[in-house]
Amino acid sequence: MTNRITNIEDTLTEPVSIPVEAYVSESYARAERDRLWRQVWLQAGRVEELTEVGSYITFEILDDSIILVRTAEQIRAFHNVCPHRGRRLVDVPAGARNAQGQRSQFFCGYHGWKFDLDGRNTHVPHKEDWQNKLDSACTGLSSVKVDTWGGWIWINLNPDCEPLQDYLHPVTTMLDPFELQNMRFRWRKWGIFDCNWKVALEAFNETYHVQTTHPEFNQFGAFRGWAKAHGKHSNIGYERPKGMDENQSAKLRVGTNDDPRLSTAKMQAYTWEKANTNTTQTLVNAAMRLQDELPAGTPADQVLKHWIESARKDDARRGVIWPTVDPAHVAKSGTAWQVFPNFQIGHSVNNALCYSARPYGYDPDKCIFEAAVFELFPPGEEPDTAWEYCPPTEAAWCYVLAQDFSNMAAVQQGMKSLGFKGPKPNPYMERSTANLHRNLAEYMGTGAPCPIAEHDQ
Ligand code: FES
Ligand SMILES: [Fe+2]
Repeated sequence: MTNRITNIEDTLTEPVSIPVEAYVSESYARAERDRLWRQVWLQAGRVEELTEVGSYITFEILDDSIILVRTAEQIRAFHNVCPHRGRRLVDVPAGARNAQGQRSQFFCGYHGWKFDLDGRNTHVPHKEDWQNKLDSACTGLSSVKVDTWGGWIWINLNPDCEPLQDYLHPVTTMLDPFELQNMRFRWRKWGIFDCNWKVALEAFNETYHVQTTHPEFNQFGAFRGWAKAHGKHSNIGYERPKGMDENQSAKLRVGTNDDPRLSTAKMQAYTWEKANTNTTQTLVNAAMRLQDELPAGTPADQVLKHWIESARKDDARRGVIWPTVDPAHVAKSGTAWQVFPNFQIGHSVNNALCYSARPYGYDPDKCIFEAAVFELFPPGEEPDTAWEYCPPTEAAWCYVLAQDFSNMAAVQQGMKSLGFKGPKPNPYMERSTANLHRNLAEYMGTGAPCPIAEHDQ
């Protein structure tokens, strides 16, 4: 089976409807394992999680568990299974997201087979009983394709897959200038949610919901969002507000209403306190000083420029150097990329917000949802973080994310209604969803978006 999809640059401008089977069908969820998850490159961890030789983490996806380990030369990936009788080699502690630790070798606790960090078998008790038939091919760990980009470790369970760089195109070209590999976790959380993994991701791959689901943001200025398809992947962003030269202005919501010095400070304080995403303490502090540093009546674009430049200088003084990205590239890159099938990178020059979701068993109504915030830290001052299990509540995730979560289970249930004919994404602002399903259909062989018939409108 070939799943290579050419890098279609069409724009999916036609209104489409998406069949609900991809969200609610048990047989579709079961088919995803072989047709989708075992065919695609998946973000499986961060390079900095593997600090020492022998450091390892596991990545769990349905029936597959993968060990990612740092050897003296490289990062390697193996199926987490003992070749003797098939015991999971490394156990994931009950209730944990994954296993992690550091070892000089892997040891199977069932009958004592041992493996070095390169997956080679180093010991089989009573090996002679096999009459010299045990060669390295049948006693070593089964390797998995692994590569890195953006500071993430990516794996692909298909040994014949295309190279990661080809797969990710054009995400790499568009995001390389943001130097995401230099960022480190500020926080990372995961939970088991009552919706399909696509419903969870589709709560974040568009800006159409912001005015209604997050009404508080309306006070900081209205900005019109867009979404563009790039082959397997897509991105979203905001249209350039009049008189401003960076897409960033919309992401950061420097409004043209009222006094932009005050609205910027207010927006930053709100975002820091109520979302804990998309900004940093440095940006918040610099926003709080705007009223003192700039005269009343300073136009919004000047406020934005001053704010960003002073925050950049503040960070540089403590050894945090933001990359410089051409404003035209910033505008084109938008605010977030949806990496097929299940990873979203909300990028900027000094912080990032990433979401991922994957199935939780074969129940189409459940998923593992994850969010992580990254930031540039002074060398040696990176916080020590771990994956924190969080139920989908405001107490656990903060106010703004809980607003997003409030739609998820309700969408999952609503889509099963006899009266529902299928999602009809906004062809301009929600094109990432149409693109996701167009690509999913290529892998799954079913579920392609179809033009909205007149009677559906
Ligand atoms: S199953 Fe691992 S040593 Fe027997
Ligand atoms: Fe949202």
